[in-house]
Amino acid sequence: MTQLKVVGDEAETEAETRLLERLAAEEGRGLLRFLTCGSVDDGKSTLIGRLLVDSAQVYEDQLKGARRDGHGGADDIDFSLLVDGLQAEREQGITIDVAYRYFSTPRRKFIVADTPGHVQYTRNMATGASTCDFAVLLVDARNGVLSQTRRHACIVSLLGIKKIAVAVNKMDLIDYDEARFDEIADDFNSFAKPLGFEDVAFIPLSALKGDNVIAPSAHMQWYHGPTLMGHLETVQVGRAPKTQPFRFTVQWINRPHLDFRGYAGTVSSGAISVGDEVVIHPSGKAVHVARIVTGDGDLDMAEAGEAVTLVFAEEVDASRGDIIAKPDEDPSNADQIAAKLIWFDEEPMLPGRSYALKCGAQETTATISALKHKLNIDNLDHVAGKTLELNEVGACNISTGRPLTFDSYGQSPETGSFLLIDRLSNLTVAAGMIEFGLRRATNVKWQELSIDKGARSTLKGQKPCVLWFTGLSGSGKSTIANMMEKRLHAMGRHTYVLDGDNVRHGLNKDLGFSDADRVENIRRVAESARLFVDAGLIVMVSFISPFRSERRMARELFDEGEFLEIFVDTPLELCESRDPKGLYKKARAGLITNFTGIDSDYEMPENPDFDLSTRESTPEELSEKLLAELRSRGII
Ligand code: ADX
Repeated sequence: MTQLKVVGDEAETEAETRLLERLAAEEGRGLLRFLTCGSVDDGKSTLIGRLLVDSAQVYEDQLKGARRDGHGGADDIDFSLLVDGLQAEREQGITIDVAYRYFSTPRRKFIVADTPGHVQYTRNMATGASTCDFAVLLVDARNGVLSQTRRHACIVSLLGIKKIAVAVNKMDLIDYDEARFDEIADDFNSFAKPLGFEDVAFIPLSALKGDNVIAPSAHMQWYHGPTLMGHLETVQVGRAPKTQPFRFTVQWINRPHLDFRGYAGTVSSGAISVGDEVVIHPSGKAVHVARIVTGDGDLDMAEAGEAVTLVFAEEVDASRGDIIAKPDEDPSNADQIAAKLIWFDEEPMLPGRSYALKCGAQETTATISALKHKLNIDNLDHVAGKTLELNEVGACNISTGRPLTFDSYGQSPETGSFLLIDRLSNLTVAAGMIEFGLRRATNVKWQELSIDKGARSTLKGQKPCVLWFTGLSGSGKSTIANMMEKRLHAMGRHTYVLDGDNVRHGLNKDLGFSDADRVENIRRVAESARLFVDAGLIVMVSFISPFRSERRMARELFDEGEFLEIFVDTPLELCESRDPKGLYKKARAGLITNFTGIDSDYEMPENPDFDLSTRESTPEELSEKLLAELRSRGII
């Protein structure tokens, strides 16, 4: 048996020795988690199949199923069948095609995350890579470094993997040509330099023939490096736990009975001992660790990767999502951050849209306030852009609903990464890597004013609110809003109308009708309406506001009962037959593009506060009805 190898450095401290012993006991041997990626035909499945079979860990029944004729020897096995056709995993209602396979040699245990290279590759890779320390990037020797190879290398580096092997496969098909292999290595190196990998091992192999996979090849005497398996068995990955600051995220409060209160979670980096002083973020409260509790009894200290319950000497109130650190090693805290985003969703990213953000156990809302640039992942150039499409990477400024406690991703991937989730579909739409908190977040404070909304509205003798009219162009929103204002004005109410066409002449004159511009259009008018309501006014907003997400975002800016969504429900055919501005005619003639209802979406309200059908009633009747409703609900 070869000597035990573990993730990380040799044991230097007592704690590390203990951790190594524990790992050795649990795992039997050291463990390497790695990711494989490459284009569709690079032979990934064959390679993984060969690693599994040749390391003799494939279950006999799986092997039988993979034999082409049911009784052949090892040469008859189609290695790719062992790996392909795996069940897609379902997580949060989305399909993630990451297959985890296990195998081992006397030197190490391996978990390999196999991620397919099809259209959803960034989502799959990010899922797989989140648990990996190493990546094997496959290249077909005949094709060399392709666009897909560069993209995968870029994503792998963004996800924080520092060491990779470039497996140049199908060497048998190019007559084991050394010059071609060197050319591919040079090509990759010149592209990948800015990605900052610590170590890139180039290994020429043939997964099909078995050259340099487990056994050294007899066909490539010119190659003196390790086989792929040899490299996987010996590569040193992971960070020395003791050099990292201590981070512990509270996952849940462990309170089995009244006289025990502990905070359960996993040490994501660094180490903690009984007696240590720690600070709970974001409250900033300092306490001392009284006990470190586990299912197997108390510990004197705990290190990265260990799941424990911390009990403090002092009474303290920490909640789920709080981060516990040491006094001189504060994480950052900000509600505006600069981050890299990898976009996973078919629906493009829209700056200004409100997404849900999950950072460890912290959850809040977030909007992308600026897309600074996109990354052309073929050549790593920065390019200008307004949105991110599926599989694109961009540098963004993000503003969060409440402050986040975090580290930069480079320092600590666990506390420096987050996911963005679409709030309507619940799909994970992006992975984010935090670069830093924006200084403006700490330099711009809220200015408290002496006169508030209550004082202003009392003076006006009214309850401020916003009547938000949504509907197609030509549906009658502006006509009804205008009538409502006239009626309210006559009643002595203080009002204002924000109308799409008018606001687009001033505040929003830089915006057009793309989805991204409409999102920003609504964000600005919603913020303006909020100021008007704060001023004590009854505000009528008359904007198509075609997307549910933004109408919901607008509602969330207001207090309960202040925001009333009014659907001016006129079918497209009727709007088009009225065509008050002649715009439908132009849109049908192709003179206007992105026209709502024609070639741009309108998402009907699902639960409007009022549904005004204009088919049977005149605008006068509808405003009368609305006024009566508002009165009966005590709004006016
Ligand atoms: S929104 O979709 O962003 O909410 P908004 O209400 O501001 O739209 O503006 C809609 C008005 O702009 C319409 O009533 C119409 O007069 C005009 N308009 C011009 N081009 C378009 C277009 N492509 N789609 C919709 N409205 C348009």
